[in-house]
Amino acid sequence: MSTVPRCVVAIDAGTTGVRSRAIFPGGNAPVVAAYREFTQHYPDNGWVEHDADEIWQAVLATLAEVIAQVGPDAVAAIGITNQRETVLAWSRRTSTPFGTAIVWQDRRTAERCDQLFAEGQLPLVRETTGLVLDPYFSASKIEWLLTHRDIPLDDDLALGTIDSWIVWRLTGGAAHVTDPSNASRTMLLDIRSLHWSQPLCDLFGVPMSALPEVRPSSGRFGVTSAELTGVPAGIPISGIAGDQQAALFGQACFAPGMAKNTYGTGSFILLNVGDTCPPPAEGMLTTVAWTLAAESGAGGTVAYALEGAIFVTGAAVQWLRDGLGIISSAAEVGPLAASVSDSGGVYVVPAFTGLGSPWWDPYARGTIVGITRGTTTAHLARAVIEAMAYQTRDAVDAMSAAAGVQIADLRVDGGASAVDAMLQMQADQLGVTVRRPADQETTALGAAYLAGLAEGVWPSLAAIADEWSVDTVFVPEPDRTFTDLGHATWQRAVACSRDWIMH
Ligand SMILES: Nc1ncnc2c1ncn2[C@@H]1O[C@H](COP(=O)(O)OP(=O)(O)OP(=O)(O)O)[C@@H](O)[C@H]1O
Ligand SMILES: [Mg+2]
Repeated sequence: MSTVPRCVVAIDAGTTGVRSRAIFPGGNAPVVAAYREFTQHYPDNGWVEHDADEIWQAVLATLAEVIAQVGPDAVAAIGITNQRETVLAWSRRTSTPFGTAIVWQDRRTAERCDQLFAEGQLPLVRETTGLVLDPYFSASKIEWLLTHRDIPLDDDLALGTIDSWIVWRLTGGAAHVTDPSNASRTMLLDIRSLHWSQPLCDLFGVPMSALPEVRPSSGRFGVTSAELTGVPAGIPISGIAGDQQAALFGQACFAPGMAKNTYGTGSFILLNVGDTCPPPAEGMLTTVAWTLAAESGAGGTVAYALEGAIFVTGAAVQWLRDGLGIISSAAEVGPLAASVSDSGGVYVVPAFTGLGSPWWDPYARGTIVGITRGTTTAHLARAVIEAMAYQTRDAVDAMSAAAGVQIADLRVDGGASAVDAMLQMQADQLGVTVRRPADQETTALGAAYLAGLAEGVWPSLAAIADEWSVDTVFVPEPDRTFTDLGHATWQRAVACSRDWIMH
């Protein structure tokens, strides 16, 4: 019998970098992880692209590094989580991408979405996919790829999100697959049947045969091929989820009513609404949280989530660092913001790539209001972290109104959840308790749990929930006078940022 402790290696293929990490049951093993950043390409105003080969090289290098450290015999499975909506096309024969991947932040199809709205396509999109007609989602990006690049529409064509691309390469082209959490962000999936929608494929000119097979988020997708440098053959790939759904799973929000917010590049609030797809409401995102294969430890179930998607929160901290140069590292923003007791009347609306939930305005742009002769960099820093809490409240208020559910409390994670002042303000703004867990890398945890559940590393959801432990609890201040006054002023600042670009 083997005495090597078994772990799952999670591959977190994010927007700015790829991190692989070994996760052991029991939670207190030392962290074994590797990280590679990759290049962001901005070829035009509002365009964002990635080189899929560079992402693949980052996956392979970080995976090999982690496996070398834990030893190949310790790896029970691989789980994958990824930036969502980002899409690419590649050749099945050569595994070569047809050009770059178009990234979720990319706004190049804003006018196309306006046109579809004018044609009256919103009800079809909303009823089938649970989404809104926004360039954020993959379908209009795929349409753009297929019409602007010389891509032959034949049997050689593969289309997919980043999870599909990674599995394709890991399996040496043996599996072209995805999971419902990723597929539900393409605007091509019928989120009730969990199958690709023919009417939507027709609307966007997408050949359904080029799309990946949709399989349960927790279940075996394939095994690693023998062709990979530094990665042994035959490791099962048994979990896939988009990064935000993975974070919901990693936060152990398994019961309806449980919610999490991740403060990363942007912020994404997901509320578990159970196994029945709620009727889509205006401006709301309804999404598949995950599906668990019948043979997994919690077999044969689907979970849906309501989502609030905010495009810029942590990215505004990077802008303070790289664009304005008023801090030299992201970690300085918390202390700088905490050096003043309020923002001195300054509001920063970081609508750099338009606004997501609940406004859905691709033509909004960043706005700063309330500057006086006394405004300092500390006030700006404070306004940037306050914007995270205000934007989250706007999204949560809209979700609660649409779904008629009140969130009981909020679990938080992501890079900017390190800022205590922001989380206290979040608790105050929402009027709910905010809980930050000990292990904040919930995206990777979620991917590992999904894969580990399928391979028996964790026997049940209850065993996974037992791994969650709290670091800090933020309790809301009962007096809402200043909280609500600040929020009302914030909403006036948002109005100033709206519809800024003439179109
Ligand atoms: N100590 C900190 N205080 C405030 N903000 C921080 C801190 N550390 C990181 N950030 C911000 O958090 C973001 C990174 O967090 P995280 O790694 O969770 O992002 P992400 O969206 O998951 O990125 P990716 O998409 O590449 O995975 C950055 O935008 C950064 O500005
Ligand atoms: Mg991430």
